[in-house]
Amino acid sequence: MKVGIVGAGMVGSAAGYALAMQGAASEIVFCDRNADLAAAQAEDISHAVPFVSATVVRAGPYQALRDAAVVILAAGVGQKPGESRLELLERNVAVFRAVIDDVLAVVPDTILLVATNPVDIMTEVATRLSGLPPERVIGSGTILDSARFRSLISRHLDIAPQSVHAYVLGEHGDSEVLAWSNAQAGSSPVTDFAEQMGRPITAEIRAAIDDGVRNAAYRIIQGKGATYYGIGAGLARIVRAILNDQRDILSVSMLMEEVQGVGQVALSLPRIVGRRGIVASLMPTLDADELDALARSARTLKERGAGLVF
Ligand code: 2OP
Repeated sequence: MKVGIVGAGMVGSAAGYALAMQGAASEIVFCDRNADLAAAQAEDISHAVPFVSATVVRAGPYQALRDAAVVILAAGVGQKPGESRLELLERNVAVFRAVIDDVLAVVPDTILLVATNPVDIMTEVATRLSGLPPERVIGSGTILDSARFRSLISRHLDIAPQSVHAYVLGEHGDSEVLAWSNAQAGSSPVTDFAEQMGRPITAEIRAAIDDGVRNAAYRIIQGKGATYYGIGAGLARIVRAILNDQRDILSVSMLMEEVQGVGQVALSLPRIVGRRGIVASLMPTLDADELDALARSARTLKERGAGLVF
């Protein structure tokens, strides 16, 4: 139950903290080209452990990743205020080129969990550079957007977010698709539930929730320079699904042969996640507008990734 985290910045350390707080792994190892940073994050997080769990948290060179069941790739640069995720591509591809061979030399059979943005294209990059089967290279994708979507719906309906089942599909980014047509509250379509509760989802409410999800990262980055607690918890959720073979249905990214007529692209769909990585991918029933939006999202990612040479 060992988890490696490559990249000890805000996202990697938030993931390590969330994992340690949940006692989800027996051991967490940070690797970073800045060894002092990795050691400091590991030491700081290890001081939180006695309050809740018994996880061993340490830092080390790539060799310390030996036997890690999952390696989170959180290395690279994040967005500056106003910058889109897709603008990070070239810089972060160079980082992955420098890292992936070294990781696989130590743990050739691990599962890679990609968090670096633009996460969908970086998932494709990691799949191609690693040569691992696509189901063992998982991108955090829209797991965070789905959480933001559920949270805003649940606040409007005044129910627990865990009772809302709703997914954001496609790119983790500007072209993402909020799948309203199959969102559920408990076992009811969310719109029926909202009517029954006297809290209808009007066009205005829908637009506000769409904005709240799609533009959340821009607002947070404007306010505090980066986002990390949400994605840290999302990464911990995916790791738990893998380590415990939970077969949770999570919206995560993976390189696919074809999506809506667009060949070979990585994006998020609901997928069953377990010990072997992605066990199966599901195509939800969507309305015509959502299907068009998903095709546009796939094309956006395909075009942005087209210039990459492997
Ligand atoms: C987020 O959505 C920036 O991708 C990051 O929080």
